[in-house]
Amino acid sequence: MKKILILPGDGIGPEIIKQVIKIINTCILFGIKIKLIYNYIGGISIDIFNKSFSNNLFNLCKNVNSIFLGCVGGYKWDKNIDKPENGLLNIRKKLNFFINIRPIKCPFKNIDFIIIRELSSGIYYGKPKGISKQIVNNIPTWYSYDTEIYNEQEIIKLIRISFNLSLNRKKKICLIDKSNVLNTSKLWKKIFFYINNFYKNVKSNHLYIDNSTIELIKNYNNFDVVLTNNIFGDILSDECSLLTGSLGMLPSISINSNLLSLFEPCHGSAPKIAGKNIANPVGSLLSLVMMLEYVFNEKKISNKLYFSIYKVLSLGFGTFDMKNILNNFKLVSTNEFGDLVNHFFLLND
Ligand code: IPM
Ligand code: MN
Repeated sequence: MKKILILPGDGIGPEIIKQVIKIINTCILFGIKIKLIYNYIGGISIDIFNKSFSNNLFNLCKNVNSIFLGCVGGYKWDKNIDKPENGLLNIRKKLNFFINIRPIKCPFKNIDFIIIRELSSGIYYGKPKGISKQIVNNIPTWYSYDTEIYNEQEIIKLIRISFNLSLNRKKKICLIDKSNVLNTSKLWKKIFFYINNFYKNVKSNHLYIDNSTIELIKNYNNFDVVLTNNIFGDILSDECSLLTGSLGMLPSISINSNLLSLFEPCHGSAPKIAGKNIANPVGSLLSLVMMLEYVFNEKKISNKLYFSIYKVLSLGFGTFDMKNILNNFKLVSTNEFGDLVNHFFLLND
């Protein structure tokens, strides 16, 4: 029996997680032993516990086999000091989810590469960070600062794993940084090419972040493993989601040093469309595909879910954001999309 912690979060989180639960219930029917535990993170956790990441949640995380998260954030907490996003930043930092893999995959277009994003360090967490007042030209003036900081051990760990992952793929890896300007990037680049010496059969290359935003879109076929830091990974994954059609399509997996995994779609909480039953659940459903493979070792069932999702899409069914992407488009709600996937998932092979 594997215990999965479900954290629907805010905005569209609960409605897309509902689709995931639907499929998990079918998995249980198929005989997979899953126990679901529910808890709160982000804005909803602020409402209930007055904290975006509670101690209760921290302790729970250490006692489960894996975590499935919807998304966090919303205007409702704009005036709160503790923001919903802190819940996400805390779960990543406190449980040391240092690596985040975001597959950019679209079988319709023959697109298949992964973005590996460093997730528990860099400018998101570096200290000092703050906002305060300083006298500038005799005028009290707000100033704010963040620190991009990486140590050698964090970089080595991530780069070694990335090279190892590339061995099971096309043996091609690209580091993206800003080493023409930033010290942190210079260190990443130096370590990357040093470690490369131990992986002579892996074809490596390097791009500057600015240029990479063009290359990734224009020549996506040249990429297989794309490796980058926390903030560049955040930005590039949103950009690359356009290759697959919509930000709503991207899944992700994060892993910590105890091999605990965290699954979440790459999109935000989309408060403007929340509660309307129109959000795209594909990013979450594809995250479940990964969970079935990596946590449950159920390769066959994982594949079955993957094909069910793309079966529905290939028939033209999709949420509003896929209108211009699908041939023969037929608009369906979040719930209907989940039902359709479940329908094909339930069918005998
Ligand atoms: C993501 C999100 C988060 C991030 C936000 C919600 C804090 O954009 O997972 O990509 O910046 O990491
Ligand atoms: Mn993001």
